[in-house]
Amino acid sequence: MCGIVGYIGKADAPTVLINGLRRLEYRGYDSAGLAVLDDERVVVSKAPGKVAALNERARSEWPAERFSRASLGIAHTRWATHGPPTEVNAHPHLDHSGEVALVHNGIIENYRALRARLEGKGHHFYSETDTEVLAHLIGECDKGNLFQAVCDALHQVEGTFGIAVLSAREPGRIITARRGSPIVIGVGDGETIIASDASAILAHTQRVIYLDDNDIAIVTADSVDIRDLNNIPVTREIAELGLDESAAEKGGYDHFMLKEIHEQPECLANAIRGRLDFNIGSSVLAGMGTSPRELAELGRVVLVGCGTSLHAGLVGEYAFEDLADLHSEVQQAAEFRYRNPILGSRDLVVAISQSGETADTLAAVREAKQKGAFVMSLCNVVGSTIARETGRGVYLHAGPEISVASTKAFTCQVAVLLMMALKLGRGRRFSREEGIRFAQEINSIPMLVERVIRQDAHIAGVAASYVANEHAFFIGRGPMYPVALEGALKLKEISYIHAEGYHAAELKHGPIALLTEGTPVIAIACDIPGKDKTLGNIEECKARGARILGLVTEGDHEAAECMDDFISIPRCHPLVATIPAVVALQLFSYHVARLRGCEIDQPRNLAKSVTVE
Ligand code: AGP
Repeated sequence: MCGIVGYIGKADAPTVLINGLRRLEYRGYDSAGLAVLDDERVVVSKAPGKVAALNERARSEWPAERFSRASLGIAHTRWATHGPPTEVNAHPHLDHSGEVALVHNGIIENYRALRARLEGKGHHFYSETDTEVLAHLIGECDKGNLFQAVCDALHQVEGTFGIAVLSAREPGRIITARRGSPIVIGVGDGETIIASDASAILAHTQRVIYLDDNDIAIVTADSVDIRDLNNIPVTREIAELGLDESAAEKGGYDHFMLKEIHEQPECLANAIRGRLDFNIGSSVLAGMGTSPRELAELGRVVLVGCGTSLHAGLVGEYAFEDLADLHSEVQQAAEFRYRNPILGSRDLVVAISQSGETADTLAAVREAKQKGAFVMSLCNVVGSTIARETGRGVYLHAGPEISVASTKAFTCQVAVLLMMALKLGRGRRFSREEGIRFAQEINSIPMLVERVIRQDAHIAGVAASYVANEHAFFIGRGPMYPVALEGALKLKEISYIHAEGYHAAELKHGPIALLTEGTPVIAIACDIPGKDKTLGNIEECKARGARILGLVTEGDHEAAECMDDFISIPRCHPLVATIPAVVALQLFSYHVARLRGCEIDQPRNLAKSVTVE
């Protein structure tokens, strides 16, 4: 959940590091710091708050020429896990000599025992962090070879890490290593960049190397020497990112979130392109790496994920049952990994994760593999840990999702899940004609979303009536129930309104007690099976004074007349309608948050990728 950057190359290392941190700020942003080697001394600058505060602090503390002549450094933007977000707890952390500096993403589980042992040897700690303990451990192990010292220290560590280490005793190199937290190395021309993800590398090179767990690398301006923790050489291929820097910019929008909502037609087209076969009425998902026979023999699909990805899985659950006659269930990844799941070779476990680094989802993948299940993933980040550890699955091709609130990843996840369900269904009872019709429905998704986005001004006007509320309820039935959950998550995480999603039938079993005059109920009443029951639930809410914002199918005037406000959703297959419906709720939530003056792209307390439990 933190962002780390390392640079070794030409000059002006502090500027390169700070610019890199800016690209990673969405991973965590409560404090930041950097360390450079200057005249073979380790010089450190840290500040609470965002990267801009660090930039100001460093430039005020250091003479300008120090910025220009330093050519090696490491930096960090933090999402606090141990100790509050203060300057003392900010990374980098130094060893007892002050000559070794470390930045770290992850959690050292046994840091207390290590700290006690080091304190017994006279070490003094200034922070409350696990990372400072690792810095001291490396210093303690340093017998004149920094690489070996890092290996020896990491052999004593339990937990996860993505680290970069420099030493005044060994100028000209950075040691980097990973276990459970991502590290990607950008191979430039006379310069090398280390980062938590590729968005910090784009400005320098498209050529990258992804470290695997327990890889450790000796990095110089012209070389990357990768070993395992036993000093055995390891070969990792250089990959091409294929991303342009503009993809990481806002493109003229006020927020990354609005940009990412509006680019969904294009992202969905990219997610679908080349993956539908209208001749056989199926989908072409080569990454699944499974034969028709293997798919036909599957007995169950288990979808695991967290947050928005979990909600996408809930839509997938309906799709696999409706289209493929397959028993399917959704498990919250943290629950799945600890409940000792009953799994076997006829079970397909699909791990859903935009970042591909969510710790609980990664752990669920490892547990599913341990139990002998068929495991694959739906990820957006190419080369991410979950993608690599499952070894098969489908990439979303949604492009970098910078805003902490996930939008385009969700809709692309659902689109891919619909294609997976179509593929599985055509290997079972789904006919060619049914398959062709559903493939055509999927192919229309970008246009359906475009029709909702064109209502952006209308939705912004509707949102204005809901800005003052502190509570809101989202309700839906069938595949629109997970859409209600997702809509509530969007509103709560960016506007800080207490929003809850419920199955429409569930309100009367308790939550309706909370309705008072004017309480907003956002009701998904599209013209799909169960609509009339939902209209009945809406009447129950109106009888208690609730204000109803309805999502209704275009032309359904009967439903529209039941609402105080409404947004029109194009008529399409119920499973497909989940995508334009959620886009309406994304825009609604965005405009409510904007009108409330909220941060939106980096909401308080959140991070884009939750790489700790
Ligand atoms: C979504 O808006 C949230 N930011 C969060 O719930 C997110 O979906 C969750 O942390 C899972 O992330 P992942 O898809 O990268 O695994």
